[in-house]
Amino acid sequence: MNAAVVQAFDAPPVYTTFDAPIAGEGEQLVTVTAAGLHQIVKSLANGTHYMSTGKLPFIPGVDGVGRLADNTRIYFGGARFPYGTMCQQTVIGNTMVLPLPDAIEDAFAAGIANPAMSSWVALDRGRFTPGESVIILGATGTSGQLAVQIAKARGARHVIAAGRNPQALENLKSLGADRIISLTQDREALIADYRAAIAECGADVVLDYLWGSAAETTLAAITQRGVIKPGVRVRFVQIGNLAGENIALNAHTLRSSNLELIGSGFGSASLDAIRSAITDFFTLTTTHPFDFNYKTAPLSDVTALWNEKDQATRLVFQP
Ligand SMILES: NC(=O)c1ccc[n+]([C@@H]2O[C@H](COP(=O)([O-])OP(=O)(O)OC[C@H]3O[C@@H](n4cnc5c(N)ncnc54)[C@H](OP(=O)(O)O)[C@@H]3O)[C@@H](O)[C@H]2O)c1
Repeated sequence: MNAAVVQAFDAPPVYTTFDAPIAGEGEQLVTVTAAGLHQIVKSLANGTHYMSTGKLPFIPGVDGVGRLADNTRIYFGGARFPYGTMCQQTVIGNTMVLPLPDAIEDAFAAGIANPAMSSWVALDRGRFTPGESVIILGATGTSGQLAVQIAKARGARHVIAAGRNPQALENLKSLGADRIISLTQDREALIADYRAAIAECGADVVLDYLWGSAAETTLAAITQRGVIKPGVRVRFVQIGNLAGENIALNAHTLRSSNLELIGSGFGSASLDAIRSAITDFFTLTTTHPFDFNYKTAPLSDVTALWNEKDQATRLVFQP
């Protein structure tokens, strides 16, 4: 069969032939129709993701849309290594097999499920309840833009959106952001901006796509100094680390605030939680419109398009 194949961690996948999978006990074959090129797919393909096996070759892709042998249309994940989803046919167990509502088209579902799940699960892990306020750190990316819309759709009182790209940041207002914060200002101005926004809007849950110095500054704004009264229980949920793998965490931050640090991703969130988040999100999309840019391309273009820099548009390959 035809497939994208990762043959080296320091090069994009190549479009070539690969042995078709054979289903074992408890497994099913899926004919793939669409597979999204998400950040996790790239980090697994370059070997830097914590779920990387370190083995080559393999077919990239963590999720997709396809048809089972009986023609049931599904959103799926969890292909058996070395199979991924960027191929004509793959093999899965029963860990992530969700029937897809008719109203949702294949490429849209394959592109949106992973970035939407990132904030849906993180809000759950942060025990978000309607009426609370949410800070989104790294709100200009695909996942961040969806996080703004999802937080609002789930009843957030206020959303404070922090990001770098000025135009993308400005556009977040039309997606529901009540306050925007530019991460490009110097550290003291940024902390002051956060404190003013938190005083006006509140902050109960932080969804962090960045970590690194961007997270440090947010935590500095939450840190109390001077006259101290018990702070709001801020649940800081770590989702992505595009601004750095490490932070320096001041002891005062933990002692002076009512902060909880939580992770959200494969390993911290249960499969049940991820399955139910994606199901709930798909159900919501049938009645609630989400602003989401994606484009499709034939899988044969995988090498040329792999490193294309268009963070505002999710690329979906069609085998
Ligand atoms: N844990 C989970 O469940 C889960 C699920 C999905 C995604 N993720 C992670 O979430 C992160 C975001 O994914 P995505 O799909 O939204 O990616 P994306 O669409 O490629 O967007 C990346 C965004 O990050 C911003 N960015 C990159 N480096 C930055 C920096 N140093 N400071 C500030 N902003 C920076 C970019 O900002 P500009 O627009 O300003 O360039 C861009 O808007 C990734 O790390 C991904 O692996 C986690």
